[in-house]
Amino acid sequence: MKFSSLVERISGTGADVWLTHYAAVAARERGEDVLILSVGDPDLDTPQPVVQRAIDSLLAGDTHYVTASGRLALRTRIAQVHQARTGQPVTADNVVFLSGAQSALFVASLCLAGPGDEVLALEPYYPTYHATIEVSGARLLTIPTGAGWRPDLDRLASMITPRTRAILWASPNNPSGMVLNEGELEVIGNLAERHDLWLIADEVYASLAAGGRTPGLAARCPQRTVTLCSLSKSHAMTGWRAGWLVGPTPLAAYAEQLAMCMLFGQPGFVQEAALTALELGDEPQARARAYCTSRQQHFSRGLKGITGIQGIEPEAGMFMLLDVSATGLTGGEFVRQFFAAEGVSVMDGAAFGESSARCVRVCFATDERTLDEALKRLRRFCAGLPAARG
Ligand SMILES: Cc1ncc(COP(=O)(O)O)c(C=O)c1O
Repeated sequence: MKFSSLVERISGTGADVWLTHYAAVAARERGEDVLILSVGDPDLDTPQPVVQRAIDSLLAGDTHYVTASGRLALRTRIAQVHQARTGQPVTADNVVFLSGAQSALFVASLCLAGPGDEVLALEPYYPTYHATIEVSGARLLTIPTGAGWRPDLDRLASMITPRTRAILWASPNNPSGMVLNEGELEVIGNLAERHDLWLIADEVYASLAAGGRTPGLAARCPQRTVTLCSLSKSHAMTGWRAGWLVGPTPLAAYAEQLAMCMLFGQPGFVQEAALTALELGDEPQARARAYCTSRQQHFSRGLKGITGIQGIEPEAGMFMLLDVSATGLTGGEFVRQFFAAEGVSVMDGAAFGESSARCVRVCFATDERTLDEALKRLRRFCAGLPAARG
């Protein structure tokens, strides 16, 4: 049987990067002694009032069809939270509630680019970007990082052509934890204005940056900026699939139509739970920030003295890149051998682009006992590598 050309665009390397992670999950289900540090899912519970609201909504019969873009009260609240965080004046008409920031990116991708177009993403980039952009028929081109994991903005400028439709980035970055600064954003904003480009800002980790904010371009370039955000990381709600996009009203209208084709609306009880989460104020986000900061410090301390490993301190987020080049292994070799020898899954840095191919990514948002055990196994594994012995 024949499939559409789309199936090739959504498979391949982007999908392969999760193989060790899936092997680890399968091993854990078989009862094996594995440690999973390969996925960004904080080891925190969803706030209790959020869970309670979902239960109450279900019991009250909130189990029917809902509007495709999300309930007005929820979109209004998202607009207020977005405005307070970014300074961009918006209303519910700028917001579409979707199944996580991931589906918000999917919707933005299909609405903003298509065959013959190019989207430029700053490395290191989140591994689903490739398939999620290319599903539209557009090509994703990535911009290697400059010094110190900062974006190489000259390279970005040199890669803009008449085919370019958008610039895409995550700030704080996954996996480097880098936060774009005002000067860098100024350059990106100027490029977008000069070449009439969309700006797609993935801000799922914004609440984990200092003060719960990350500099952005939404207020300065409201007609060309699409902000993707969710409750996954800020409120420990990865499994609820509660996210949104905020953009100019024509885009929001198209996004609603696409959501209609694809989702027919997010469950009402999830929307009520999301509204409750946003009504809790800063407390859940402050909790997530404090949690990540303390785990990062704990993990960084434990890394000291491990042969061949250089930790790259993030500015924000729940990940750390470890440069493993001194072990003589690539990131991919390190991931496979470390998992085979010690049952610890981490992610190949190459999954995030060439710039991080000499690294592996660790998610440190877990309990200290797990981190200590992972560090013990990392120390043992590295000590046994030929580069360390030599
Ligand atoms: C940079 C980045 N963007 C988007 C997502 C998807 O987030 P969500 O759970 O809101 O779909 C993730 C998830 O890890 C991510 O790291």
